[in-house]
Amino acid sequence: MTARTAAYRVGFIGLGKLGMPCAEVFASHYDVIGFDVAPRQSESVRIAATLAEAVVGRDIIFIAVETPHEPAYGGAAPISAMAPRDFDYQPVKQVLGVLNALTTRAQLVVLISTVLPGTSRNQLVSLLPNARFIYNPYLIAMGSVKWDLLNPEMIIIGTEDGARTGDAAMLQDFYRPLVAEPRYAIGTWDEAECIKIFYNTFISMKIGIVNMIQDVAEAHGHIDVDVVTDALKASDQRIVSPRYMTAGMGDGGPCHPRDNIALRFLAQRLDLGYDIFDAIIASRERQAHNLARVVVRAAERRDLPIVINGKAYKPGVPFTDGSYSLLVAHYIEAEGHRVIWIDPCTGDTPTITHPAVFLLAHDATVAYPAAAQMPRTAAMYCVPPTGNVVVDPWRQFPPSEGIEVISFGNARHRPGLLAP
Ligand SMILES: NC(=O)c1ccc[n+]([C@@H]2O[C@H](COP(=O)([O-])OP(=O)(O)OC[C@H]3O[C@@H](n4cnc5c(N)ncnc54)[C@H](O)[C@@H]3O)[C@@H](O)[C@H]2O)c1
Repeated sequence: MTARTAAYRVGFIGLGKLGMPCAEVFASHYDVIGFDVAPRQSESVRIAATLAEAVVGRDIIFIAVETPHEPAYGGAAPISAMAPRDFDYQPVKQVLGVLNALTTRAQLVVLISTVLPGTSRNQLVSLLPNARFIYNPYLIAMGSVKWDLLNPEMIIIGTEDGARTGDAAMLQDFYRPLVAEPRYAIGTWDEAECIKIFYNTFISMKIGIVNMIQDVAEAHGHIDVDVVTDALKASDQRIVSPRYMTAGMGDGGPCHPRDNIALRFLAQRLDLGYDIFDAIIASRERQAHNLARVVVRAAERRDLPIVINGKAYKPGVPFTDGSYSLLVAHYIEAEGHRVIWIDPCTGDTPTITHPAVFLLAHDATVAYPAAAQMPRTAAMYCVPPTGNVVVDPWRQFPPSEGIEVISFGNARHRPGLLAP
């Protein structure tokens, strides 16, 4: 027998464009009282006269107040030349401050409003020591709020330590009668904040590139943008697929970096007036530099030499054109360190008997889906001596006796290696 969901008493603060439709969906199953500073009416949500009325005695209190930018950032006029700005958290902070005086640890406060990564931990939770706090942002579009809520791509839940039990389990229990078997993405507050905002900006990036194809069509002629995007959107091996969605080394090879350079040239020649790939190339270089800094620091702290495991642009080939390993090595050398290469395909087969800091540049299981069954240690081109440090940008190297593994990108339980 499946467990029955509890009859949660729900409070809802902020009945605006997102909040009211959500509160009404919740009211189809739960007892919901909502509060807004502006006058609101609803057939299914009881409207409280005061915030306290929507909070006291409630099991779960949702917050969907606005996190605005100044009106000048509204999008009616160009914003690209304006200073980048964080959201304004004053409305959220003000509500949390008031809630703290009204709540107890028996109550779960769930923030839906959009915030930048780090905001919950650094700015919000300290305002609400009296209640438990979850970040639960929605991937919802105007015009289809109720449908999106009932048919979500995923439900994102952020807790202090990323635990799936406790408060996260309670919120899943809350959604059970409302949403049929959703996919849950559960992580720390900070991971949930990242999922939400990178989800939206991934969409912006896709649209930015397909609309560039539209501009190329109109600037050059002889091109129907739909012929091009239809071919790309059906490319479910590499483009519309999970591939290249694992962070690691940057892309390389004889084609990709040069294609980016050539597209920058085309954008100029066609006078499109913007340069998307400038930012992409510059980011790729800075990312290589960041990784190089981590390798250099690890080597300097332990006084060890640096080995890059994988010189070719991908495992199993002899080609080094456009190899991201060479780019990382460039930055390592710029910091005054020599790089020892090891890669059987490029003829680099030194005998390594002393410990070193190994940058694990190649991971065949990421480069070739068919290699997914290979043991992860196969990614090493030699037997690592005891005392070795492995910097693994793919976060796959198993814990091994006598080897220290730095899983670059997994900073959940340690300070960030690039922290300013
Ligand atoms: N609208 C969407 O489709 C959507 C989708 C995903 C995320 N979001 C995020 O959800 C949040 C809310 O967005 P929205 O579009 O509903 O904004 P909105 O401005 O339409 O609604 C916010 C509501 O909160 C109320 N409010 C402000 N301060 C309050 C207080 N102290 N007490 C009670 N009510 C208060 C306002 O009066 C308003 O009705 C934002 O962070 C937004 O980024 C919105």
